[in-house]
Amino acid sequence: MQTSESIKPDRVKQPVLAERVLAPLGGWQAHDWGVTLTLGQRKLALQAISNDILRLVLCDDSGHIPASTVAVLPDAVQSRAGRCAVEETDEEVTFRLESWTVRIDRQLGKFDVTDSRGSVTAAGMQLFSPATGGVGAVLQAAPATRFYGLGEEAGGLDKRHEAYTMWNSDVYAPHVPEMETLYVSIPFVIRFDAGVASGLFLDNPGKTKFDFRSRFPAYEVSAATGGFDCYLFAGPTLKDVISAYTRLTGRIELPPRWAMGYHQSRYSYETQDEVLALAHTFQDKEIPLDAIYLDIHYMDGYRVFTFDRNRFPNPQQMCDELRDMGINVVTIVDPGVKRDPEYHVYRDGIANDVFCKSVEGDIFIGDVWPGPSAFPDFTDDRVGRWWADQHDFYLQRGIRGIWNDMNEPAVFNETKTMDIEVMHRNNGYPRTHRELHNLYGMLMSKATYEGLAEKLGGERPFLLTRAGYSGVQRYAAVWTGDNRSFWEHMAMAIPMVLNMGMSGIAFGGPDVGGFAHHTTGELLARWTQMGAFFPFFRNHSALETLRQEPWSFGEDIEHIVRKYIRLRYRLLPYQYTLFREASETGVPIMRPLVLEYPDDPATYNLDDQFLVGCDILVAPVCRPDLRCRAVYLPAGTWVNYWTGEHLEGGRHVLVDAPLATLPLFVRAGSIIPVDLGESNRPGQLALEIYEGKAGEVGEGRLYEDDGLTFAYREGRYRDRQLTAEFHSDHVLVRANATHDGYGQADEECLIRMHWRDGTVSEAIGCGSSFEISLNRLA
Ligand code: GLC
Repeated sequence: MQTSESIKPDRVKQPVLAERVLAPLGGWQAHDWGVTLTLGQRKLALQAISNDILRLVLCDDSGHIPASTVAVLPDAVQSRAGRCAVEETDEEVTFRLESWTVRIDRQLGKFDVTDSRGSVTAAGMQLFSPATGGVGAVLQAAPATRFYGLGEEAGGLDKRHEAYTMWNSDVYAPHVPEMETLYVSIPFVIRFDAGVASGLFLDNPGKTKFDFRSRFPAYEVSAATGGFDCYLFAGPTLKDVISAYTRLTGRIELPPRWAMGYHQSRYSYETQDEVLALAHTFQDKEIPLDAIYLDIHYMDGYRVFTFDRNRFPNPQQMCDELRDMGINVVTIVDPGVKRDPEYHVYRDGIANDVFCKSVEGDIFIGDVWPGPSAFPDFTDDRVGRWWADQHDFYLQRGIRGIWNDMNEPAVFNETKTMDIEVMHRNNGYPRTHRELHNLYGMLMSKATYEGLAEKLGGERPFLLTRAGYSGVQRYAAVWTGDNRSFWEHMAMAIPMVLNMGMSGIAFGGPDVGGFAHHTTGELLARWTQMGAFFPFFRNHSALETLRQEPWSFGEDIEHIVRKYIRLRYRLLPYQYTLFREASETGVPIMRPLVLEYPDDPATYNLDDQFLVGCDILVAPVCRPDLRCRAVYLPAGTWVNYWTGEHLEGGRHVLVDAPLATLPLFVRAGSIIPVDLGESNRPGQLALEIYEGKAGEVGEGRLYEDDGLTFAYREGRYRDRQLTAEFHSDHVLVRANATHDGYGQADEECLIRMHWRDGTVSEAIGCGSSFEISLNRLA
């Protein structure tokens, strides 16, 4: 516990150290890929990667451009050779690289970067070496500039006035807005100025800082170690920037459908009998469930790749029985391998020389759950393959999902992590842990995902991770770590996951109900209502906390929780299509309103409500005892999902929210594909259409495939464009298959037209493409 002593004057006073600006501009040299120029004592390379991505990278001491990290897709940076035209005046030099313009003040070394539209992507950017070492940049901004992204950081949606340190950390202390580090580091920020967006990614997996406070309204990005390898992304829209960033660092892979369902976890379900009883309770209570998680107690003394034989005498039989019920098992796998000469994984690891070592060759041993443990060096592909092979143990027992935890890596010591002097192999280019720290969790996920993808015989893997770095979205879903059963933590999950989504990680979510502390029936009900609309939907709680399975607080709460879990399944076809879209474009599934309404300042820091896709608006109740709440409806007409009332947007409305009701709105004119079965097995498909204005054409999309395998990559999917042409007395509904490689020709789809007056007309659409007219009821 900290006391006031932590702010004793001599503790907080910081020495003022001089920093050195990289200036003036010396000579330059054009290459067939861009230009290198001398700034002070350093060489800076400018490389136009594409019309919307410009790389600015400081060369190393021998004048070479350092290799990109694994965050960057190799194909993404090799794409373009760029010629450079130069214009000079006495004060400035202007470099034109393809569509990019970089204008540098000769004396100050300050530069402005503009994109092909003439929008400023970086203003007054000046590089400097802090006296404490490393390198940084100061960039100018306006007082009204908003900042988004930066992964899962605590606090609100807009990061203006905040400062963050990117250093993956295991933070069990209650997450509060002033926390500067959490489990995931995404050194990517979106600048948003009067409706125009641009982005910056500092590809450095050591400790980096993003400070929007100290030099306000200017901001600073800096790295304590390693190089300065920075990418600028052109807008003009937020979606353009996210799309460019995810073209560089990758997009989510389409997960199996079951990964998008409801998941139940607990630290821990401790025995095979308990797990089976849990599954049967879900079945008996008709609460759909797709996955049960096994936390660390399933193992033999916390040794990864083992089962405790007494607690889990026959894991395969358990998995088979669960699979028959449509339930998957996800096992936790931490990176620490117990130091135990009688443990085959440790012995095999030693024999294969896979563990992290100091430069002198000593294996780094740190304390985690199993006690003293060694840590695989995932920076080496050979070690990654060794790790992946260990997963045969789970696959042979019918386990299909893996949960990577403690992979910051967390160590129970003062620094909370691995010795920063550990020397990683890094595929033949050794680097210290200090330089690569933030990559550890992402590389663990990469090894696991790639191994599973290879071994699953065409099935899509599901992987969940706690730690990550840019690019982690290619391999895993991310949950926000050890939150608590606090209303504040429920509320904070919204901006956290929204910013994750704007940082490429489209598949994320918090522990629903809260992990630590004790939930209440009301909190569980409200959190489940909200969680049902997050991309990742898992209820998880800690050892010795009150139970928080859906039925833990009596029938009334159970009823509410069931209703919203079923609603999740009802809306799965809509969500599934959004997952597909995120895998194609990087645009997140769960969206802040600013993403869809960038011209509306009321949305710029709105983070107590969100959109799913662009048609569903969710306004969770994040306070106890509240039975109504203010909801901001953006421009357009919105339909109250529960009452059918049409409301004009561009204003706040006060909405009734008794405990069983989540304020939920659908955009008028939208077409929402749903599954009427509301269960973890696909059922009857329907299109719910909400009346738009006469003369308008509503649009939607429905993507379908087998929900399990990669066959969609070979064209085994169906993609339909949906339109609804609204007339005064009827609606013309069209489904048009833009790709038709899945599904049966005579398949039926129910169409439910919700008229503004509350009546509903129904019709059946048959086959992949159809056209149907539904009349307004008399
Ligand atoms: C960490 C994880 C938590 C897990 C626990 C035990 O605290 O964040 O989700 O339950 O370890 O494995």
